[in-house]
Amino acid sequence: MSVAVPSEEFHNGHKMPVIGLGTFMASSEVVGAAVDSALEAGYRHIDTAYVYRNEAAIGQALNKWLDSGRLKREELFVVTKLPGTGNRAESVEGYLKKSLEALQLSYVDLYLIHSAVGKIGKDDAPPSEQTLDMNTDHISLWKAMEAQVDAGRARSIGLSNFNARQIKRIVRAARIPPANLQVELHVYFQQRELVAFCKALDVTVCAYAPLGSPGFQERHTIRDRDREAALSPLTDPVVVEVARRHGRTPAQVLLRHVLQRGVVAIPKSTNPGRIRENFQVFDFELDDEDVEKLDALDRGSKARMFGGKMLKGNAIHPEFPFHDPY
Ligand SMILES: NC(=O)c1ccc[n+]([C@@H]2O[C@H](COP(=O)([O-])OP(=O)(O)OC[C@H]3O[C@@H](n4cnc5c(N)ncnc54)[C@H](OP(=O)(O)O)[C@@H]3O)[C@@H](O)[C@H]2O)c1
Repeated sequence: MSVAVPSEEFHNGHKMPVIGLGTFMASSEVVGAAVDSALEAGYRHIDTAYVYRNEAAIGQALNKWLDSGRLKREELFVVTKLPGTGNRAESVEGYLKKSLEALQLSYVDLYLIHSAVGKIGKDDAPPSEQTLDMNTDHISLWKAMEAQVDAGRARSIGLSNFNARQIKRIVRAARIPPANLQVELHVYFQQRELVAFCKALDVTVCAYAPLGSPGFQERHTIRDRDREAALSPLTDPVVVEVARRHGRTPAQVLLRHVLQRGVVAIPKSTNPGRIRENFQVFDFELDDEDVEKLDALDRGSKARMFGGKMLKGNAIHPEFPFHDPY
C-alpha cells in the first residue's frame, strides 16, 4: 500500500512527510493503537524519543504492519532522539542501539539530539534527580552522530532545542550537516527568525507542539508559567473564525498555517478521530487574508512553553539555548 504524503526534502535527498504523529505523553498502553489509527489514516511519519518510554510499544505496532506486508520499511519515516543523559560522544552509539532494539528496526530515518544541554544521572529518573553535565561538547557529540549515519543506524541526523548560534557552529564543523531542527513552534510562537536562519542553511524545520500542546498545559499549571504562554491557540477567536469560514476545525487551521510556511508538523493525539482530523489538511488552503490574521497572533518567545520557567535549573548550563533571542 502506498499513500502519497507531501514531504520536505533534506540536503541528502531523503524526504520527511510533512505531517507526523507526535507521541510525547502517549503511554505504552495507548500508543500502539494510536500508531495503528495513524497508519490507517495515511500517516507515514512517527515521532518518538528515548525519554518518552514508548519506543517498544511503537515498535510492536510498526512491526505488525511491516511483518504482514501492509507496509514496506522504506514507506515509513521514524524519528527518535538521544536523551540529554547521552549527550557525550561515547554514549551515542549505545543509546541509538537501545532505541533501535526497542523499535525493532535496523535504522531510524532521523536521529535527533534531543537537547543542547547534557545531563548526568539515570536516564529514567525525573529531571529533578539528574544533574547538569557542564562539559557538553557539541562538536565531538556531532561527530558521534555522523558515525551513526556511517554505520547505517540513522539515515539522517539533526537537532532539537538548539539555537541559531549553536546550529551554525555545528554546520561549520560538520562532515554530514544536520538535516532537520525540531523546535517548539505554533501560532503564538512562530519562530520566524529561526526558521529563516535554518532555511538559509538548508536545514529543514519540524514544529513540535503545533497545537499549543494542551495536554502539557493541563499538567503544568498556569501557576508555574507565564499566563500568556498558557492561552490555547485551539480556542483563540481568530483561529476559530478562520476555521468556521473554511468549514474546518481550529486544529486543521493551525496545522495548515505551519505547513504553508514550509515547516513540518507532528501533532500528538491518541484519539482516532483527532488523529484522522489532523491528517485531513491537504485538501484546503489558507488565503493571504487568513495568513495575515494568523501571522499577527505571534507573541514571540513570551509564548514559549518548553524550556522556559519549567527548565529553569538548566539555565546555568553553558549550552542553555534560550538566552539568545533565537
Ligand atoms: N523535541 C522536543 O523537545 C519535543 C517537545 C515536545 C513535543 N515534541 C514532539 O512533538 C509532538 C507534538 O507536541 P505536543 O504533543 O507537546 O503538543 P500538540 O501536538 O500541540 O498537542 C497535543 C495535545 O492536543 C490534543 N489534540 C490533538 N489533536 C487535537 C485536535 N484535533 N483537536 C483538539 N485537541 C487535539 C491532544 O489530545 P488527545 O491525545 O486526547 O487527542 C494532546 O493533548 C509530541 O507529541 C512529540 O512527539 C518534541
